[in-house]
Amino acid sequence: MSRFAIGPTDFELDGRPHRILSGALHYFRVHPDLWADRIRKARLMGLNTIETYVAWNAHEPRRGQWRADGDLDLGRFLDLVAAEGLHAIVRPGPYICAEWDNGGLPAWLFRDPEVGIRRSEPRYLEAVADYLEHVSEIVVPRQIDVGGPVVLVQIENEYGAYGADKDYLETLVQVTRESGITVPLITIDQPTPQMLADGGLPGLHKTGSFGSHTAQRLTTLREAQPTGPLMCMEFWCGWFDDWGSHHHETDAAASAAELDALLAAGGSVNIYMFHGGTNFGLTNGANDKGRYAPITTSYDYDAPLDEAGHPTEKFFAFREVIAKYAPVPDELPASAPDAPELTAPLVPGPALIAVADRLGEASDHDALPSFDDLAHDRGIAIFTTTLPSRASEADGTDAPRSATLVVGDEVRDRAWVLIDGAPVGLLARDAHERAIALPDARGELALIVEDQGRVNYGPRIGEHKGLIGGVALDGDRLRGWRARPLDLDRVPGLAREWAVAEAGPVAGPRFWTTAFDLDEPADLFLDTGDWGKGLVWVNGVLLGRYWRRGPQRTLIVPGPVTRRERNELVVLELEALAEASARFIAGPMLGHTDV
Ligand code: GLA
Repeated sequence: MSRFAIGPTDFELDGRPHRILSGALHYFRVHPDLWADRIRKARLMGLNTIETYVAWNAHEPRRGQWRADGDLDLGRFLDLVAAEGLHAIVRPGPYICAEWDNGGLPAWLFRDPEVGIRRSEPRYLEAVADYLEHVSEIVVPRQIDVGGPVVLVQIENEYGAYGADKDYLETLVQVTRESGITVPLITIDQPTPQMLADGGLPGLHKTGSFGSHTAQRLTTLREAQPTGPLMCMEFWCGWFDDWGSHHHETDAAASAAELDALLAAGGSVNIYMFHGGTNFGLTNGANDKGRYAPITTSYDYDAPLDEAGHPTEKFFAFREVIAKYAPVPDELPASAPDAPELTAPLVPGPALIAVADRLGEASDHDALPSFDDLAHDRGIAIFTTTLPSRASEADGTDAPRSATLVVGDEVRDRAWVLIDGAPVGLLARDAHERAIALPDARGELALIVEDQGRVNYGPRIGEHKGLIGGVALDGDRLRGWRARPLDLDRVPGLAREWAVAEAGPVAGPRFWTTAFDLDEPADLFLDTGDWGKGLVWVNGVLLGRYWRRGPQRTLIVPGPVTRRERNELVVLELEALAEASARFIAGPMLGHTDV
């Protein structure tokens, strides 16, 4: 049993000054069989604490359906931190940003347009209180004063960059305290005087988020808070990638020099990220500050431990800096081995629309519904309607009838347009497209719409997905829709039926499958460079999205997902493959950098 407190100048552990040397590691971005390995490696770099966010929408995908087992077993994660002799910091949000879908807020929360986001609005607060209760059930018995690892809990996340509703922050504190959290509470803000003022509360310790200009940031933080320890709660040692941009890298020596400056000033630190991991499945967030920019599947973050859990140059540079201020174990983690290399031919499976009825139930609507109207929170939905026969019939000719298809407001986020099953084009939000010319607008129109990840930062959090504002053809609103949200979890099971190659043309959104053996289970790097855009599963696990747009080219397959015999791979290619094969290569390729 220990006591952890915020003293006049320092954090205090059992009354003695204590420096927090923490690393961010999100349990929800790492395979659970690998948590212990990553935590141990944090200790080997000299860290004494692990920090994690809690992703509300992962734990409660449907209202009232809370899950905290298996890959979401936060309790087990914290127990592993304790077993390694480390402390823990928990940041439950409820909003976490984190380049995570909707910044962690469940999409179901926003179906009611009256619900207020990140402010004192009763319906929002009621749901938040239930959520924080669940988190506290896990965290309360693992606090340091009852022998557990948890030393700090954060309230909200960079709230000063979003709002200034003090009643909201106070309610969060009240709910947190009433649920049994006794450790000190903190807030984090980008270190500007305004954000620190708006995002903080008297009685809560303020911390900052920054990765450069350390001396200046600490001065601003000190001005906002004359006493107590200085802490950078997010020491950005790298950065995230979005599709269409470059792979972000920061210089290891420069980043280590910033860390040195922070520690020399007596500061405590949480390295964001120590190990970034992966946005498995459909969990990535997005930014939209004028151009929609969805986050890549990899969350490597150019962190000290790379996406596959191996030490980088930054690991050793940081370890050396930390060793100037604290004891660091002699043991070093092993460097990355080459991953198995192999190629397996892809066998064409059925077209997506040919098997759609097995992937989800349809409903009929007069006006085109959004994903949210369908209570469909993530992934893909297909909308079909019969195009009205128009003038051509009247003039009696059989000539093609060109027309313009227009989405009323915004495409969220990408729509493939098919007529009678044949692909005719697409509409992309990131290109601000909402109109497409159809050479012949007759027959059955299908719009395959992908939600590429909900915005996780700024005013667009919580916005609805789908074809917003309806769809019109040459100015006439299209009606009589059949909507089919897809349950992508059904894909791997269904794919077992597709052993025999499908005959016929293979253009347009379609499944492909293959199987391969390994000498032993191992991390794999799937090179998607010859593919278009889509999703891929290995042994039933949805690895995430791939996209030839880059920068990310390889998808990681964590070793625990693989097996020796008959690994099953399923691809949903939404555009076109250049090569119909699955190629695994020796290491990651996260794309070009800007240097
Ligand atoms: C902010 C947020 C984090 C993360 C980083 C960027 O600091 O608090 O959740 O989004 O930006 O990676």
